[in-house]
Amino acid sequence: MRIAIGSDHGGFGLKQVLAGLLRDGGHEVVDLGTDSTASVDYPLFAERVAREVAEKRCPRGVLVCGTGIGVSIAANKVPGIRAALVHDETTARLAAQHNDANVLCLGGRLLAPEMAWELLRIWMSTPFEVRHQRRLDLITGLEERGS
Ligand code: RB5
Repeated sequence: MRIAIGSDHGGFGLKQVLAGLLRDGGHEVVDLGTDSTASVDYPLFAERVAREVAEKRCPRGVLVCGTGIGVSIAANKVPGIRAALVHDETTARLAAQHNDANVLCLGGRLLAPEMAWELLRIWMSTPFEVRHQRRLDLITGLEERGS
């Protein structure tokens, strides 16, 4: 799969680990930065990944900041994005099963790399349950009506 990935400085280390593991697993990784631990603004990187997914250049994206909160808030401003902040196996599974999340958000300062990789694997391998489609359509309607 072609996967967009991005982070701020707080998520840089975990992003590097996850990008490497994804590549080792045969995925095509589109790394949209950041490229170091120098302080940057997470909305910029969240937007890059979100647009890559919303404009269908990548079916899925992964975002990492210190907590995962900032990138999830920012990514969800882009129409078509369902970004889910997950922190355990259950939320990773349900983000796919119930929400068909197309962007996974992780806390680089909160999760051990092994745990983050496990959550990423669960999210990528769990199918969406179509009985939840009506709720996703309601979210799309909300986007279309705007504010
Ligand atoms: C940056 O210090 C930090 O605020 C950011 O990584 C993230 O945790 C925001 O939600």
